Parts: sequence; C-alpha cells; structure tokens
Amino acid sequence: TGTSHIGSQGHLTIGGCDTVELAKTFGTPLYVYDEALIRENSRRFVKSFEQSGFTFQVAYASKAFSCIAMAQLAAEENLSLDVVSSGELYTALQAGFPAERIHFHGNNKSEEELRMALEAGVGCYVVDNFYEMALLHDLASASGIQVNVMLRLTPGIEVHTHEYIATGQEDSKFGFGVTDGQAMLAIRQALAKTHFNLLGIHVHIGSQIFDTTGFVEAIKVIREFLDSVRQETGYEVKVLNLGGGFGIRYTDEDDPVEIETFVETITQEVAAAWSKRNLPNPEIWIEPGRGIVGNAGTTLYSVGSIKQIPGIRTYVAVDGGMTDNIRPALYQAKYEALLANKASMEATETVSIAGKCCESGDMLIWDIDLPQVTSGDILAVLSTGAYGYSMASNYNRLRRPAVVFVRDGIADLVVERETYEDLVRHDRKRSVLSNII
Ligand code: LLP
Repeated sequence: TGTSHIGSQGHLTIGGCDTVELAKTFGTPLYVYDEALIRENSRRFVKSFEQSGFTFQVAYASKAFSCIAMAQLAAEENLSLDVVSSGELYTALQAGFPAERIHFHGNNKSEEELRMALEAGVGCYVVDNFYEMALLHDLASASGIQVNVMLRLTPGIEVHTHEYIATGQEDSKFGFGVTDGQAMLAIRQALAKTHFNLLGIHVHIGSQIFDTTGFVEAIKVIREFLDSVRQETGYEVKVLNLGGGFGIRYTDEDDPVEIETFVETITQEVAAAWSKRNLPNPEIWIEPGRGIVGNAGTTLYSVGSIKQIPGIRTYVAVDGGMTDNIRPALYQAKYEALLANKASMEATETVSIAGKCCESGDMLIWDIDLPQVTSGDILAVLSTGAYGYSMASNYNRLRRPAVVFVRDGIADLVVERETYEDLVRHDRKRSVLSNII
C-alpha cells in the first residue's frame, strides 16, 4: 500500500526512503510513517463526503497517533481533531491546530481539563455523562461563555469486533443510554442549560469494524430516538456525529469495506432517514483514527537472538515488542511483516517474532513465513500506524522509539527516541536517609 516498494537493492522502501538506511540513521525500533498515505486516507474520507453533498467534518481521532507533526498534518488536510485528554489537547495546541476545530471527548474529563479547553476555545464538547454536564455548565457560566455541546449516546447495539473495543452496547462505561431513558433525560437537561448550544448527538459503536451494518443499525436507532425527542421537546439536531471505527486490513484475514463505501452508506442512510422525517439533512461528523494512520505506519526492528527449538518453533527476537505495540498482547491482534533487507527473497521458513520484554505474552507475530532470518536483519512490521506509538510504554524501562515521517525520499524526524535521562527525568533520590545500618 501507499508508497512502499522493493528498491533496487532488494530493500523495502517507503516514501522513497530505503528502510534499511532509515534503521541505520535513526536506530531501531523505529516508527516510519508514509506521509503521502496519511494524506491520501484523509482525502478519501473528505472527498467521499464532498461527493455526498452533505455538510461534514472529518475529525481525526488523535488517540490513534498523536504528536505535534501529526496534528500539523491533520490541520493541513483540513481535518478537525478529536482529543480525549488535556495531553492530546495540549499537543494539538502546540501544533497550532485551530481550537475551534477541536472536539473534546472522554468519559471523565476533569475540571482542570475542562478549564484548559475553555481557555483555549475548543469548538465542541462531547458530553458523556451527567456529572460532566453539570461541571461544564458551571464552568462555562462562571466564565460567561456559550459552549457547543454534543451528547454521547450509547445506542444499545453490538458490533463484531474485539470486546475491549466495542462501545455501542448498552452495558458500556461510555455515554447516555438510549434504551434506559438516560439519553432523553440528558437532552432535556442540556436544552435547559443557558450556556449550552446543543449541536446534536454522538455515537461511536466500536473500532476496527469491517462492514456497514453496525452504522446502518445505529442510524436506525438514532432516527427513532430523535423522532421521540422531537415529539417530546420539539428539539432537532443540527449535527449527527457517527464516531470512528472504520476498519483496516492488517492481514489477509481482514476484509473491511473501502473508506468510500463506509461514507456512501452512512450518507445515503442518513439522507433516506431524514427525508422520511421530512427534514433537511443534518451535518454529519465522523472521527476516523485507524482509517487515517493505521496502514501508513511501519515499525522497523533489528533482529537479535534467534532461538530454535527443534521440531517445535523458532523464536526470532527483536529489539522492541509490547512496549511499542501492545496490540498483539492485548487484543490478539495479527500483523504482516517482512525482512526489510531481504524484501525480494522468497520465504523459506516459518518463525515466530518475540519482543524483548520479560513476559511470555510479549509476542508480536506467531508463525510467519520469512526468508532465512539472521541476527542483524531488519524486520518491518506493517500497518502499525494506529495505537502503536500512542499506546507505547516504558515497561522494563525501555526507551520509546523515534518516529519519522517519510516523503519523496526525505525522512523527517518528528519524535526523538527517548534517552536514558528521559527515563529518570522525574525520579528523585530519597530525601530522608535511612539510619538503619
Ligand atoms: N471516536 C471515539 C469516540 C472513539 O472512542 C474512538 C476510538 C475513535 C473515534 C477512533 O476509532 P478508530 O477510527 O481509530 O477505530 N486501542 C484500540 C482501539 C481503541 C479505540 C478507542 N476509541 C486498538 O488498538 O485497536
């Protein structure tokens, strides 16, 4: 996908850069992002909406991968930005991302976070619960300002994805339940709040979704709910936010519909529903994270130890693992990989890729066919752009890897590799010396 090729030396190249050279220059593990592919994915979402005739916002969900350079790219592509914490907000503001295009999410926004957002002039608050509704309104009225608000609803539908990333079901920590009457109550409360401008409602049914049925179902639930809201309160939404969740292909087992199909289905379903309601179309907002950055990221590792258990398995260990990609351990997520320095060679053996953490569960890939692997090879794990760097940790006091953006043969270091000093930066030596000998 994207600008990945096999170069003249039989090396994997991305964005016109030889990945073996990138590994040499920047070290490993290294996250490499194909800038052109991030832009292409963004444009596919935007173009599909433009063709639909709907008024829309495509908000990049920064949780998938957040850093200053990514927020800059999102701004350049005219995306909006979904942030879920003061940290993601701070990053966006440091990038100069326009605050009015930032949407603030989260199921437990703190007073400090809300104050920071109000100060910055964040464009929309996706209110998740009654506690936040009261808190946000108090803060807004104390500052004498009006805020744009959407209410996050839990539509009570189930989608086929890993249970940890399914969010639309009734029993969820997120949002106001539609089926239990909480959503209606929330609408009434929000309408009564003088410092709220209620833009509409938000639903997010889950992540890594492959087909459109969940979205179609959600739109149906929303339509019925909004009909009763209209009957009971006279209120009608201006904006419908359908969240993110657009799945990508990690391996051949995955078969997601194309970006265009997601957007076409959503817009057609909403148009049909709204014409039945005899109402003009609402604005549609979506929040893709993975769909924009997932396939644009590749992680480069150096191969170190290789352990052969005759007749059983070969463990090929790399210099990263669950610290830079928790997804295999957390969701049994599967990935494709290749040897970047032997990209044109035939696969001759089946091996399993182990991380370097002190956990048996720190395995990146089980049973992958590769050319003869030797220590020093560069392993490229594909489609690691979403929820890799953003969920990285310092377990075992590993230093978080660097991130480079590549484009037209240029490699741009956008996040430096952590240093040993970074690891102890917040450590303090004991101030009270023990007198026990
Ligand atoms: N909007 C909301 C309200 C969300 O909760 C999420 C993801 C998104 C948008 C973006 O979803 P995406 O388009 O990236 O699927 N760590 C997990 C994914 C958790 C997603 C949480 N919310 C993973 O690695 O698969």
